[in-house]
Parts: sequence; C-alpha cells; structure tokens
Amino acid sequence: MQGSRILLIVGGGIAAIKIPELIRLLRREGASVTPVLTPAGAQFVTPLSLSSLAEAPCHTELFDLTRESEMGHIQLSRAADLVVVAPATANLLARMAGGLADDLATTLLLATDKPVLVAPAMNVRMWTHAATQRNIAQLQKDGIRFVGPDEGEMACGEFGAGRMSEPEGILHAIRVALGQSRPLRLPPEAVVSLPSRGVLSDRHVVVTSGPTHEPIDPVRYIANRSSGAQGAAIAAALRDLGARVSFVTGPAEVAPPEGVEVIRVETAQQMREAVEAALPADAAVMAAAVADWRVRDPQASKMKKDGSGRQPDLQFVENPDILAWISQPGPQRPGLVVGFAAETDDVLANARAKLARKGCDWILANDVRPATGIMGGQENAVTLVRADGSEEWPRMSKREVARKLAERIAASLNGNAGKDSE
Ligand code: C5P
Repeated sequence: MQGSRILLIVGGGIAAIKIPELIRLLRREGASVTPVLTPAGAQFVTPLSLSSLAEAPCHTELFDLTRESEMGHIQLSRAADLVVVAPATANLLARMAGGLADDLATTLLLATDKPVLVAPAMNVRMWTHAATQRNIAQLQKDGIRFVGPDEGEMACGEFGAGRMSEPEGILHAIRVALGQSRPLRLPPEAVVSLPSRGVLSDRHVVVTSGPTHEPIDPVRYIANRSSGAQGAAIAAALRDLGARVSFVTGPAEVAPPEGVEVIRVETAQQMREAVEAALPADAAVMAAAVADWRVRDPQASKMKKDGSGRQPDLQFVENPDILAWISQPGPQRPGLVVGFAAETDDVLANARAKLARKGCDWILANDVRPATGIMGGQENAVTLVRADGSEEWPRMSKREVARKLAERIAASLNGNAGKDSE
C-alpha cells in the first residue's frame, strides 16, 4: 500500500473507537491517511488522536475548508485513491443514498470521483430495517463497496449482524479495493466487499501455525518459541488470492486473520488430528513450530517442590511429525506440501536434508540465530528449497514473504513451475 492515499471518514458510532487501530495498520503498510471526523464521530474519538496517528490534519468542518479556498472540499475528495467510511452509521448511509451534502462528510462523498468503501456499524434492528436495506441496495447500485458488517455481540447488548468489521478485515477490503481500482458505477453483480474469485478460488489450503504446548502438569508445558506471525501472514495471503484456508493454530501470540477457518489446538497430537480432519486439500503449508517431544505422563495435579532438592523425572516421547505424515504418498496427500526449516547452522544443507527426509515438495528455510532478529520480529530472510534447486529471497517483511509464497503456490497449482518470471 506504499504511497496509497486514503480519505477516511469516521462516522458517529461506538465502533469509531476501533479507527485509531485501522489508521495504525494503514500507516504501517505505507498508506497516507487523511481523517475526516463527523460531529457525531467526535463523541467517540477526538480529532487530535486521529490526526496524531495519521500524522495529518483531521478535518471536521465544511466551512473551514471553503474558507481556505473555494474548492477545498472538492480537492480533498479527489486527492485520494480511495474514500473509506468507517464506521458508516445508518444515518450516514441514508444520507449518502439520498445524495445529501449537508456536512463535510456527505459533501466529500458527493464530490468525489474515487471509489468508496463503507464499513457499516449499527444495531442489528437498524441494519435489518427495510429503510437501511433499501439504502444499501441503492448504494450498491451506485457502485459503493461494502465490507461487513459482521455478526456478533453489540455494544448495546444485543446479538446479530451490524458489528463493524475488525480493522484487519477493513484493511483487507481496502487492499482489494485499491488493487482493483474499478471505476464508480459498477453493475450490482460486480459489487462485492471481498474478492469472490482469485487465482486460488476453488482451492483449499491447510496452514499450520504457532507453537504447540505439551503439558507437564496442569500449569506447566514445554513449547518452541513461535509468535505465529509468519503462519498468520501466509493464511491471509492465500485468502487474498481467493483460497479457502483451514488455519490450524497452536496458542500463538498473533491473532488469526479474518476470513479463514480457524481450528485452535494445544498439542502436536491435536494438531495432527485437526490437519487430518481438514483434508482433503490442494496444498498444505506447515508453518507451525511443533514440539518434537511431549512428556510421557503429564501429571493430573500441579507438581510441588518438597524442599528436598528432588527434581521432576520427566520422560519424553516423540510427537507425530505432521509434515512427514502429510507428505506420504496416498490419496489424501495434497498436490503441494510446503514445510519450514528454522535453523541456526548450515541452513541450506539442513533444509535440503529435511526436504528429502520429510518427503515434502518445498522447504522455506530460514536462519533463526538470535542475531538475525527473525524470531518474533517483523522480517524474514528465506531460501526456497526444492528438489530441483534453491532460490534465496532477499530479506523482506513476513507479510511479503507470505505474498510471494502464496503467488508461488498459485502458480504451481495452476500448472506452471512457480519460479520467478523475471
Ligand atoms: O524437523 P523440524 O521441526 O525442523 O521441521 C520443521 C518443519 O516440519 C516445519 O514445517 C514444521 O511445521 C514441521 N513439523 C511438523 N511436525 C513436527 C515437527 C515439525 O509438521 N512434529
């Protein structure tokens, strides 16, 4: 999103409190954000917090703009690649549908020649009301894009459709809207909030992620270090290409992405069972840091130290190797199996050996010595190892690694070698 310009109109709903997070995510992706806050929105967030996070002035008044220059609001509405309305209240949607221009937000929306994406947020009864649905239908006909609303518990205590999409989901829809950059006034059937087709549509991919926790007793466990960041990014990138993703995750620090089927597990054995239950799949990406051993007899009660200096007698058994198991030839084997090799020494040699030993098709190898800062960090430096050779990728963000890998998987499943075309 580097260099993309977002005009972000913040309406007056409790969901406005999630907008600072959206701005933070957009800024992290390199987009510039110009916030516009309605008077009702200012009841929930302040112009100062939005402008501080956006590092740009937050506009609130129509007449401030017209005082600066005759065409202030026209310029503002056009100096953007995308106009985002979040949260879009029932009232704001109604005024948009009616073509009103009685404040800064609606004036900008009427004056813009750029695509508009709205993230509705309101009580479930307001959302299902015939008047709101009529307005939505009109706005869709006008080419306005929608993301959400989601279903769930509401601030007012009711349950149902009307919750604003989470910032990550809105970010995804913004990415899609920017990528497509379709003109306004699309035919209604072309208006979708999320991509319905992509190079991986009709494909199912299983992704494992995060660590596994192997219990010692009810309060202690052994585990590998893993934030789950790379696995979550891979699942999101596959989803962005239209794949149906089964995301089998251990207890990770990073939240699973939206729009994937999340299966939460604790132990390696549970992870193996969850992967098996998710099959068949076209591809599998095993990004989890699975504990190689589990404790033979986890205690039912917390082990106590008794002051005698006696140490716990822990016996270990080997866990199932999910990657080796899924790579075995057979009707259930996915067409493409990708494993990871986090190594501290002889990265390439170890990765090659692992490729052969596990029987998978590709290994993404990375050097996780503490000095690299990769473990738990935002970046990764990987080498893609396959039977016919290896390819070193430059150091890039985990998100970019994920996108590149997802593109390779798509290319491979769609019948070409999946190597760089350049
Ligand atoms: O053998 P090692 O743990 O280094 O292999 C790493 C790769 O194998 C990763 O893709 C990891 O997800 C997978 N793996 C697995 N099940 C295990 C151990 C590792 O799927 N029990």
